Amino acid sequence: MTEDNRPKFSTKFGVIAATVGSAVGLGNIWRFPYEAGAHGGGAFLLVNLICVVLIGIPVVCAEFLMGRSSRRNIFGAMSSLAPRGGKWWRLAGFLGVASGTLILSFYAVVAGWTLEYLFQSVTGNLTAAGVRESHTEFSAFTAGWRCVFWTVVLLAINAMVVLRGVQKGIEKASNLMMPLLFVLLIVMAVNSLLLPGADTGLRFLFSPDFSQMNSATILSALGQAFFSLSVGLGTLTVYGSYFPADTRIVRSASIMAGLDTMVAIIAGVIIFPAVFSFGMEPAAGPQLIFEVLPDIFSQMAGGAVWSTLFFLLLLIASLTSTISLTEVGVAFCVERWHMSRPKALAATIGFVTFFGIFCALSFGPLSSLTVSGMTIFDIFDYVTSNIFLPLGGMLVSIFVGWIVDSATVDYELRPAPRFLRGMIVFLLRYLCPLAILAVFINNLLG
Ligand code: TRP
Repeated sequence: MTEDNRPKFSTKFGVIAATVGSAVGLGNIWRFPYEAGAHGGGAFLLVNLICVVLIGIPVVCAEFLMGRSSRRNIFGAMSSLAPRGGKWWRLAGFLGVASGTLILSFYAVVAGWTLEYLFQSVTGNLTAAGVRESHTEFSAFTAGWRCVFWTVVLLAINAMVVLRGVQKGIEKASNLMMPLLFVLLIVMAVNSLLLPGADTGLRFLFSPDFSQMNSATILSALGQAFFSLSVGLGTLTVYGSYFPADTRIVRSASIMAGLDTMVAIIAGVIIFPAVFSFGMEPAAGPQLIFEVLPDIFSQMAGGAVWSTLFFLLLLIASLTSTISLTEVGVAFCVERWHMSRPKALAATIGFVTFFGIFCALSFGPLSSLTVSGMTIFDIFDYVTSNIFLPLGGMLVSIFVGWIVDSATVDYELRPAPRFLRGMIVFLLRYLCPLAILAVFINNLLG
């Protein structure tokens, strides 16, 4: 496809809404709090911030510029930007597309849970009976086929947006949903801060406990940074390929990373004060917000309203992210195999639904199917976040730092000041690949 007839985001606001929409998702509201809860709160936050600034932002810039200069998806970008068609680099692009599909498979399951919880909140069931057995209820729900149903519904809503294309689908949906998301976040955070004993939760989130810090903290903080920023597998490359020629890449990357981190922190501010105020356990793992929060909502004044708002927030956040993940597969199928958009979408969603069902069932009928204690769902989550994303991030940084023509890189990073452009290239060449490698090796040995 040539530069001219490729669809583009139509406004600056659209660029920010779409990229922030991709970044802000379950990663911020569901994953960040339980990872922070399991790895010492503030210590995790601190390492995470360092990873975002020194490794995340440069890799985001790298992905944006790969997309914009090639006007292709990550597979196409790697073949067209590498000298001689980049035979091996295309494989890396393919790995990106494949892991996007795998992430979407377990992501859609959790996003589907939010639909059930939203439904139960609206009907008042979720907060009905005082202190309830949220744990049993969560287990009962995820053990059945009902959660497969919601996964499929979620994928269908998602497909309806993606089908409408870049401007009328992705951009328009993001423009509507992102402002609403920020309003919801702020309202919820104020409510949490007004709870008695909120300060214990804040202390947990903001004061680092370094005794909890080890190589696992660092790997998780890096994996979390990558997951939350949507880097490492071509989501941002494909969005970058829809950037107008005058989009400022470094600035957009920084705004995106800034807002994304802010949302994770606000989510922590919503969740931890509530958790401590009601005497719950912060290290509950992936179930944290689904088991602990309903209990809290049911004891809170106006609980049904708060839980509706919260799960609506979570739904909006996850939809804008699943849309971006779906677009990776769709753009790949359209460009590589010349499929029409509807066919490419059907292929991508078909794949994801297949894997998604296995992930959904791994809390129930398939829960005994485990490899070293991890269910299919856990394996998808662990392998993609802790192996594929860092690996993808490392390959992207080596690719842009060393392989892509440096004049092209410099041109795309303009009009950022020269010092900043040099700094980003330096980080991409040396720090990003080495830091990721070091964390990897450390984790393998430890
Ligand atoms: N960043 C999103 C979140 O925080 C999830 C996501 C969207 C993602 N696209 C991605 C994660 C690409 C990794 C790679 O929920």
